[in-house]
Amino acid sequence: MRLTTLLPTYAQWGRAALAIGGLALLTGCDLNFWRMDGHQSTMVVDGPVARSQLDVFMVTVWVTLAIFVIVGAVLAYATWKFRAKSEADEHAETPPQSHGNPMVEIGLIAASVFALVIIAVPTLKAIWFTYDIPGGETRPQLDALVKKGEAYEVNGIGYQWWFKFEYPTEQINGAGSLITSNELVIPAGRPVRINLRTMDVIHSFWVPKLAGKVDMIPNRANHLWLQADKPGYFWGQCAEYCGDSHAVMRFRVIALAPKEFSEWLEAQKLPARDVAPKPVATVAPKAQFAALRSFKKNEYGFSDKYAAEPNRNPLEAWRDKQNPEKGEDPELIAKGKALFTAKGCIGCHAVRGHGAAGVTAPDLTHIGSRSTIAGGLLENNSEQLRRWLSNPEAVKPGNKMALAYARTDYYGKKIEGISLTAEDEVALVAYLESLK
Ligand code: CUA
Repeated sequence: MRLTTLLPTYAQWGRAALAIGGLALLTGCDLNFWRMDGHQSTMVVDGPVARSQLDVFMVTVWVTLAIFVIVGAVLAYATWKFRAKSEADEHAETPPQSHGNPMVEIGLIAASVFALVIIAVPTLKAIWFTYDIPGGETRPQLDALVKKGEAYEVNGIGYQWWFKFEYPTEQINGAGSLITSNELVIPAGRPVRINLRTMDVIHSFWVPKLAGKVDMIPNRANHLWLQADKPGYFWGQCAEYCGDSHAVMRFRVIALAPKEFSEWLEAQKLPARDVAPKPVATVAPKAQFAALRSFKKNEYGFSDKYAAEPNRNPLEAWRDKQNPEKGEDPELIAKGKALFTAKGCIGCHAVRGHGAAGVTAPDLTHIGSRSTIAGGLLENNSEQLRRWLSNPEAVKPGNKMALAYARTDYYGKKIEGISLTAEDEVALVAYLESLK
């Protein structure tokens, strides 16, 4: 058979081009896709740890690309040079077979070892770099790569399906360490050591633009360090399958300049904000109803400020959340605060200063100042908060809050629990939003 009969026909080439064109269209011709600069891209990085890991990846890419080009070229040359040139060639006897050339074989083994050494040297360097926490010991090479100064320490604890962050160096009078959830605020330009723990199953902590993932394993103390080059808003994700809602177990990292970071710490250490109702209790509540509409399962929840508006800087959106909203309704907030106790929310959640001290669920002392809710899944606004409160199971399947709600089980048996009217939901939303 002639080689040319094996080549694709023009029609086949055409179909291949159509398929590739179709793939390009499927990506929506999204520039981010081609630049590989999504929220969770490891190809465009913002910190020294992720950068060292990207460098190792690129060394591997170049070495394997060189091997591909050399092997491909030799194969193409041999295929072309020794092709059947005539009818007689095609029916010729197979040439005598030999075992091979010892020099060629030794040469190939040496070349393979050489290629692996090229990859191994930067790999080992990167492993040491990611394991050694700056400031821990004197490591001049390391200190040259990251800014001087001791690593800031934070504990990251995985729960099904959210992250708790503890600041052991930030003590609050009589209330232990500062605790927040799902949004890790760190100082920019300074190494941060994160002690990784889990409350239940294995999770994995991953902020793709800042550092590679490290598992949170029961009964095992893991840690990683990362550093953000400059202030920014970063996406994080649990990277180890951990149950029903693993895929939506997300978090954010917000890196702030030193001054803004210490201001944030001071604000967070304060007890929850109290919005006192007006002394005259006859003021009718304003109609501050959060929109109630039915959401589709898996409907996107943090689109407007954080993804769809390309000109919207997510860090700016986060900063806006630090201030009280305009047009708050103190009556409604007071009603929500009373409901928070009456409905038993205080059994699991803590709101420092408001008599809620639960520890099994996220600390809500300053929930109004966070950009996301429900484990980094939904944007924190009245619409999404109400969506979450009215049917948590539909947002994050299998979550523990949904178990506290009144519901009908698999066998049709009614189970007692929290039930909220539309007015209750609106009041609770107003209260939570006021907790700046
Ligand atoms: Cu936690 Cu996956």
